[in-house]
Amino acid sequence: MTGSPADDIILREARDEDFPALAAIHAAAFVEPWTEADLKSLNAGPGTVVILAEMAGVAAAFVMVRQAADEAEILALVVAQAHRRKGIARALLARASDWATARGARQLFLEVGVGNDAARNLYMGLGFFPVRTRQDYYGQGADALILRAGLPLRA
Ligand SMILES: CC(C)(COP(=O)(O)OP(=O)(O)OC[C@H]1O[C@@H](n2cnc3c(N)ncnc32)[C@H](O)[C@@H]1OP(=O)(O)O)[C@@H](O)C(=O)NCCC(=O)NCCS
Repeated sequence: MTGSPADDIILREARDEDFPALAAIHAAAFVEPWTEADLKSLNAGPGTVVILAEMAGVAAAFVMVRQAADEAEILALVVAQAHRRKGIARALLARASDWATARGARQLFLEVGVGNDAARNLYMGLGFFPVRTRQDYYGQGADALILRAGLPLRA
């Protein structure tokens, strides 16, 4: 699968020095942000990669994905506000799909807030479908949907 973000966006694996910027992007998007240490600790787990989208040398978005045997999971996907609706998330997921598929994964899972319409639209458009609900996962009354898609993701 290939993605088609804006021409001036570069996708590459994150390096150690990128993590402060990744934590800042995460903190701007979530009420309970992951710190730089949280992100590094997750990334240190086996079969895990962070793919960064860079625009004019500045981090604009990232996806963290973990693969184990024939399954993979999106642990985080965030696009900085100023760079949304440019196809970056779709391109990052395409790259994550390529990465996980090459390592033998055949299914991709993730969780998303029931009320997160932007993310749900994104995922449904790529072939994800709900497999179950986790009640109050993000707090009282804020349920999470577990979504699954076959790999490779459809373009
Ligand atoms: C959800 C998120 C990752 C989307 O990133 P993005 O780079 O703006 O998404 P894309 O530009 O690749 O959009 C792909 C598709 O997703 C859907 N989509 C994205 N943003 C949307 C929005 N605000 N409203 C409705 N649909 C939306 C659309 O179907 C879009 O396709 P289109 O532009 O051709 O209509 C981004 O809004 C974000 O980082 N949100 C905060 C963090 C978050 O919720 N992460 C996901 C947690 S599971």
